[in-house]
Amino acid sequence: MTALLSTKGLSLSFGGVVAADAIDFELHAGERLAVVGQNGAGKTTFINICTGYLKPTSGHVYFAGVDITGHSPRDITLRGVGRSFQLPQVFGEHTVRECLLIAASVKSRKRSGWLLPLDQAVDADAGDATLELLQLGARAHDLAGALPEGQRKLLDVAMALMGKPQLLIMDEPTSGVSTDEKHGLMAVLMRALDERKVTSIFVEHDIDIVRAHATRLAAWIAGRIAADGPPEQVLADPAVIRNVIGE
Ligand SMILES: Nc1ncnc2c1ncn2[C@@H]1O[C@H](COP(=O)(O)OP(=O)(O)O)[C@@H](O)[C@H]1O
Ligand SMILES: [Mg+2]
Repeated sequence: MTALLSTKGLSLSFGGVVAADAIDFELHAGERLAVVGQNGAGKTTFINICTGYLKPTSGHVYFAGVDITGHSPRDITLRGVGRSFQLPQVFGEHTVRECLLIAASVKSRKRSGWLLPLDQAVDADAGDATLELLQLGARAHDLAGALPEGQRKLLDVAMALMGKPQLLIMDEPTSGVSTDEKHGLMAVLMRALDERKVTSIFVEHDIDIVRAHATRLAAWIAGRIAADGPPEQVLADPAVIRNVIGE
């Protein structure tokens, strides 16, 4: 079976810092991969290369068998790779519902969509269904900028889902959210991804969340994947215990 996402020898250095060190990686459809690692280990760099925000010094990224190395973020999004950000990229001056419609119109190649009334530009029903799926229906007419962090995270994912991704890569979807709220937030996110049959990668620091939601775990240490496999196996790896869990 062709991997959904794979990398070969992916490397990137910033000055003297090796942020990605010859990374070979494969992800298959249906997986829910959690990524752990200390701050600075290279998790976000890997995501940025895979989604076109950074170009690697060497190596390749493949999506569904196609070499997408160095393609633009927009091209990679249109191919079916969505992402959400550690700091949610929502349009704070617009309502929650408008944010979804803008996200959909940008991704549907309708350049003129920016100039049309939003309800005509895209399928408004799809936007409303996605808001309900992420439990944001009651906030539809509130300004995105007024949402608490947890709901802003959900909105960022809702916007990514409007592009109908096959794969969604989420950089720290629970950061900035209280421990009490994290599990509920992840439950809503994961149920939504299941329903839309979206494969996922998520960066997460909370090991309880990893145990509850990941089918596979990869641990980043100094620009490399130091351990990768079933969560319990990776969490028992001495290098992971030393470098990641004991951080
Ligand atoms: N745009 C950049 N310019 C210079 N150095 C960077 C840049 N992005 C990341 N780095 C460095 O690369 C390393 C990996 O960073 P990052 O991928 O953000 O780690 P993580 O997401 O695991 O915390 C760090 O040493 C960081 O300082
Ligand atoms: Mg990061």
